Amino acid sequence: MPTPTNASPTAVIVLAAGQGTRMKSDLPKVLHSVAGRTLVSHVLAATAPLSAEHTVVVVGHGRELVEAELASQWPKATTAVQSEQLGTGHAVSVALATLPEALSGSVLVLAGDTPLLTTVDLANLSQAHAGASATILTAHLENAFGYGRIVRDSDSTVNSIVEERDASDEQRALTEVNSGVYMFDLGLLRNALGKIGSSNDQGEQYLTDVISILRSEGHTVRAVETHESHILGVNDRRQLAVAGAVLRDRINDAWMLSGVTFVDPATSWIDSTVTIERDAVILPNVLLTGSTSVASRATIGPDCSLHDTTIAAGATVIRTTANGAVIGTDSSVGPYTYLRPGTVLGTGARAGGFVEMKNAHLGDGAKVPHLSYVGDATIGEGTNIGAATVFVNYDGVAKHETVIGKHVRIGSDTMLVAPVTVGDGAYTAAGSVITDSVPAGAMAVARARQRNILDWVVRRRPGSKSAQAAMADSTHTNSSGEGA
Ligand code: UD1
Ligand code: CA
Repeated sequence: MPTPTNASPTAVIVLAAGQGTRMKSDLPKVLHSVAGRTLVSHVLAATAPLSAEHTVVVVGHGRELVEAELASQWPKATTAVQSEQLGTGHAVSVALATLPEALSGSVLVLAGDTPLLTTVDLANLSQAHAGASATILTAHLENAFGYGRIVRDSDSTVNSIVEERDASDEQRALTEVNSGVYMFDLGLLRNALGKIGSSNDQGEQYLTDVISILRSEGHTVRAVETHESHILGVNDRRQLAVAGAVLRDRINDAWMLSGVTFVDPATSWIDSTVTIERDAVILPNVLLTGSTSVASRATIGPDCSLHDTTIAAGATVIRTTANGAVIGTDSSVGPYTYLRPGTVLGTGARAGGFVEMKNAHLGDGAKVPHLSYVGDATIGEGTNIGAATVFVNYDGVAKHETVIGKHVRIGSDTMLVAPVTVGDGAYTAAGSVITDSVPAGAMAVARARQRNILDWVVRRRPGSKSAQAAMADSTHTNSSGEGA
């Protein structure tokens, strides 16, 4: 991150009052998310390292929702309400009216729907601005349609910005466009905004008109160019997907350069809020979201969705869905495993295939290898839970706890009816329904004794393939105990 310099803006103004009609959404446009953050949060994350004294977000459409997002993510940002969207120039005037009149220095103006801008772009713009009245961030586009064009004089100084719909054919042929990101001298901006009109095709107060006003007053206007992919504004859901893919590549590239292996970066979707340590390996089709963190040497994938989950060093997680889980050092999870909030796996623990866990602590080296539900439980170190065990934690009204000691062997298909406790070193017999606590070292057997009704098949299913097979078996005995 570049360190703030005296070229840093005094204030940042983010324009976010528009509806975003083309999104066809009930949600204000700037609250749509890519890479785990709303569009407006991406913009504020890019401006934050500039450490401006004031950050003002202009809100209008869906303002309560936008204000709620700002209050939770960017509590230091203030808002200015633009109740009627009279144009970008008007929006900036509304924002400036909320700032102290005596404030001087420079102001960074940008839109809330440009999630691909980087702090480096803004720092470069800020640096280049020193001594100018206005500096515009521009880019050369192959298809400039819809953008304002940068019109330069014969000596290549910036003359003005002309909107697509107001441009002449000659101006439309220009490929350098206005990104909608600018630095202005605060006093000169206030003065120029007082002079803009609305005599254009849309009848709006255009912020872009400030440029020709400043030039006509003899002030210096500069332009700084950045890469095309940094200035994309999201107007519809196709552009939202494009922005998401650009961010995915950027995020994955950064992790690869920091020492993380990605087998297929195109199918690895890592939120900007996730952290990964070096020598972790990300296999295809992995979605890591929220506050998920992956430690060194862990292997994730293929086919995982992990949200707010902590994965310790050396763990292996295959085909797993997890939310709010903690996966211990060198532990192993999957395939087809579902870890819900409050799941904690100790060092070297295992949650195997078709296992669901919720609010459950699995001790160091303990294992739930197959086909089990573990809810509201504490399981001691070295304990093995047999296949198809169910922690019966719900009586239809309330949830109850199960506590299992160290080095316990729970037999396959045990029902542990909570609340219940199994002492250290105890065993349960396969197929038991455990309703009472089991003392340390005991073997609990809780099932009916087996009864064989001899010759039942031959008598009750005569002539069937089963009956024929039974008759042909030399060990077959009839009900009187005689051989066949
Ligand atoms: C604007 C620029 C154009 C530039 C383009 C870059 C103007 C007149 N044109 O055009 O030169 O190439 O951005 O993307 O500025 N907004 C408000 N209040 C308003 C009007 C707009 O808050 O009254 C907000 C919108 O929500 C949006 C931003 O300002 O976030 C830009 O407005 P928009 O109408 O999308 O401008 P463009 O036509 O894209
Ligand atoms: Ca726009």
